[in-house]
Amino acid sequence: KPLRLWGGRFEGAPSDALTRLSVSVQFDWRLAPYDLLASRAHARVLHRAGLLTQDELDRMLRALDDLDRACRSGEFRPTVADEDVHTALERGLLERLGSLGGKLRAGRSRNDQIATDLRLYLRDHVRTIVSRVVELETALINQAEQHADTPAPGMTHLQHAQPISFGHQLLAHVHALARDVDRFRDWDKRAAVCPLGSGALAGSSLPLDPAAVAAELGFDAPAPNSMDAVADRDFAAEFLFCAAMLGVHISRLGEEIVLWASQEFRWIEVDDAYATGSSIMPQKKNPDVAELARGKSGRLIGSLMSLLTTLKGLPLTYNRDLQEDKEPVFDAVDTLLLVLPAMAGMVATMRVNTARLEASAPDGFALATDLAELLVRRGVPFREAHEAVGHLVVYCQVNDKDFGDLTDEELAKVSPHFAADAAGLPEGTPSVRDVLSVRGALAARSAYGGTAPDRVREQVAALREIVDEQ
Ligand code: ARG
Repeated sequence: KPLRLWGGRFEGAPSDALTRLSVSVQFDWRLAPYDLLASRAHARVLHRAGLLTQDELDRMLRALDDLDRACRSGEFRPTVADEDVHTALERGLLERLGSLGGKLRAGRSRNDQIATDLRLYLRDHVRTIVSRVVELETALINQAEQHADTPAPGMTHLQHAQPISFGHQLLAHVHALARDVDRFRDWDKRAAVCPLGSGALAGSSLPLDPAAVAAELGFDAPAPNSMDAVADRDFAAEFLFCAAMLGVHISRLGEEIVLWASQEFRWIEVDDAYATGSSIMPQKKNPDVAELARGKSGRLIGSLMSLLTTLKGLPLTYNRDLQEDKEPVFDAVDTLLLVLPAMAGMVATMRVNTARLEASAPDGFALATDLAELLVRRGVPFREAHEAVGHLVVYCQVNDKDFGDLTDEELAKVSPHFAADAAGLPEGTPSVRDVLSVRGALAARSAYGGTAPDRVREQVAALREIVDEQ
């Protein structure tokens, strides 16, 4: 007869349909190490409350250690008859201790246990996720350092806009990831509250010590309200938001890499170790890592929506709907731990086609703004300068020329402002040709936050410090 934690008041056995619907051990088993940690803390508290003798506590802790070992080695496994992780572990304890094993359940409920287990699991796994993010940040920073001086086309609307340092663009992704890490750190402050001691919903009549349990489990404080403690899943939803936001950032980076690796861009080549081929087209080399990163952001967003939808109509306190919190959370953790190392490896090993980037940086009249700003420095109102450069672009398009191909006569014909000897120019004022340099355009954007290579190198140093602290 399968062990159940709640048989006493029932005369009939549960139906197969109920059992199949109710069972969660197939996914909550991964909480076993955390449930055992919480059990050890609870056993100590029962002992201090005079509810376990010293000898009983010693035997209990030895049995919990042995069960932990047996779970890790695979020698103890949940069976289909175990409703959930708590049921399976109580069976393991009873197998080791006989009726003494039944004493551990005093003063706690699966409601405060599961809320505690999930917090412990997430706080632990968020640390791992953060170190994987740091690896991706580091890969991007290393590439950015290599390419602080590499001019590249900067885009808005996916159209050439202004030249930028390729390193500047790579670092833009690092700033987004650094905010994600910051969010996880900040999340942890609110997640560091311990529900154990709240019991089913109202606390316990036994003289437990929630503060001692919280401290032993590494939480900052015990939950101040037992009803909130068992009903609250903010920590899971907020984790899923942080995961989804990180997923979206990785997806946007992935999308750029897909573009950069295309024949049309040819900005980068993905290393063989991070590319895949085609079963029919022998020539293909596909950036699947970046595409999967982009694709998997969908599941992360879906997991957040799934949990929020589960929570939205629930009355206090615990409701069985809350069992649906775990799969989205686990899936988000698994997804990030798969995607992040692959992205870090791909970024670390990609080869950047610096010659092509530099050559295409001025394409699409990307220096037009620099020309307009030259006129502004000559005293022309920006509105007129904008107009004049616009006319110059049309002239070039009609005559199939680039800015650099224009003669002085042509420039002067489109607008007298472009003439080298425009009226009243002081000595040493730069000429049109002086500003038609991509490297000059980059160096000129030297204010804080700008794309000048010197500023990019400063950003590299600043971000390395930030990432070191993470
Ligand atoms: N498996 C349950 C969950 O994930 C554990 C708590 C069950 N509590 C209860 N009263 N049935 O939420």
